[in-house]
Amino acid sequence: MTFSLNTVVLLYLVASICFIQALKGLSHPATSRRGNAFGMSGMAIAVVTTIGLIFKLAPELAGPGLGYVLAGLVVGGGAGALMAKRVEMTKMPELVAFMHSMIGLAAVCIAIAAVAEPWAFNIVAKGEAIPYGNRIELFIGTFVGAITFSGSVIAFGKLSGKYKFRLFQGAPVQFAGQHMLNLVLGLAMLGLGLTFVVTQSWTPFVLMLLIAFVLGVLIIIPIGGADMPVVVSMLNSYSGWAAAGIGFSLNNSMLIIAGSLVGSSGAILSYIMCKAMNRSFFNVLLGGFGNAPAAATTGGSAEQRPVRSGSPDDAAFLLSQAETVIIVPGYGLAVARAQHPLKELTDKLIERGVTVKYAIHPVAGRMPGHMNVLLAEAEVPYEQVFEMEDVNSDFGDTDVVLVLGANDVVNPAAKDPKSPIAGMPILEAYKARQIIVNKRSMASGYAGLDNELFYMDRTMMVFGDAKKVVEDMVKAVE
Ligand code: TAP
Repeated sequence: MTFSLNTVVLLYLVASICFIQALKGLSHPATSRRGNAFGMSGMAIAVVTTIGLIFKLAPELAGPGLGYVLAGLVVGGGAGALMAKRVEMTKMPELVAFMHSMIGLAAVCIAIAAVAEPWAFNIVAKGEAIPYGNRIELFIGTFVGAITFSGSVIAFGKLSGKYKFRLFQGAPVQFAGQHMLNLVLGLAMLGLGLTFVVTQSWTPFVLMLLIAFVLGVLIIIPIGGADMPVVVSMLNSYSGWAAAGIGFSLNNSMLIIAGSLVGSSGAILSYIMCKAMNRSFFNVLLGGFGNAPAAATTGGSAEQRPVRSGSPDDAAFLLSQAETVIIVPGYGLAVARAQHPLKELTDKLIERGVTVKYAIHPVAGRMPGHMNVLLAEAEVPYEQVFEMEDVNSDFGDTDVVLVLGANDVVNPAAKDPKSPIAGMPILEAYKARQIIVNKRSMASGYAGLDNELFYMDRTMMVFGDAKKVVEDMVKAVE
């Protein structure tokens, strides 16, 4: 088979089908491995085909050019593999935000190179002006890429919670006239972009690029606390559209298809997240949804009020006497890696005739599906795992709810219109006859809010690392 342009089209089609199968597979934990295998195969086909395409279109690059491409693959692929191997599950959202920022930056770099030397990208012959259509594509790819880059850098800082820099704090950064400033900058960016389209000159292009970088920062800084999951999926979508925009400029159908798949699946995920968090999709898109009336901080400690506390033995006694138990896993379960002893505990309770269900909040943990992945790792049967909308009506009839390392997702403050998490649907654990909450201290969750659930008469706090506490409960149940 000779490497003709038809072969390229065929291979790109195969890669695209692999990507679609990857998305399909990733929609359920049971098929997610297969989805990943499809994704990796699709990407391998796409990369190899694109390298072949480059050398077909520009055979003069075959010598040192191939060396550069291979060096890029080894360095980029090696760094990616190392980071993926080292990253802890709880740090995944930061890694994802970092990768989005790289996609945005790549789009910007390619756009700058294409404006500087369009003939090198086969857009025009040397010395000719770039056609208007390509200028529009370059303009769109550039500003979406720049917003994705700077927005993702801020999201990375906020998610990691390690940096002292004010813009990287979990708390929203808001100031008077913020929306008006965003609007003015947005219009200026569009005006300068159109000027570039008409004139193909560098000055409006560079100014448009700088404004887009600033806008990316301004869109993300007002968002804090519990709204960060929506930001991550939104940036995911932006990074796809940036890649698709550049695909149009480079006339590369693979980049257009892969970018559109990422862009649209990210947009659908953002929409699902918005529904789960009861936020407006358009407010999210425009960066205007961090309008929490009170500043939320990450990891702040709550005021000192008396709570009822007990030991793992007390908790095990309540659990083994119950007829129905719902377990609410949260971020702390992932930190403690307590999913395996938890599965053991559940098995022992089921052996004793207790009906046990797991209740999953859509934003529990630090990434979409975080709790599902953890439970799947411990081989918890899928039929024991229930999504929020399917289990919420059961809490009122449940003997004991065991909240493990979860906080915001069971915080009744969401029912208070003045709360920063107002309107966010929660798992209604507070309705159960008995509530057991395990965490290490009275510290707040990701949204930085106190939780009334911990102070209720029906609640017993069991302090300690989730893994140790659950292991002790297993022994006590035995
Ligand atoms: P959080 O509200 O973050 O609460 C987790 C709790 O776990 C903390 O209060 C902490 O209290 C406890 N904890 C930490 N380590 C522990 C350990 N080793 N053993 C026992 N407890 C431990 O978690 P959540 O209820 O799952 O809610 C998730 C939050 O993250 C939401 O606000 C959500 O919006 C946000 N978020 C979610 C995502 C996605 S997509 N899921 C992405 C970014 C942000 P102590 O320190 O007292 O132990």
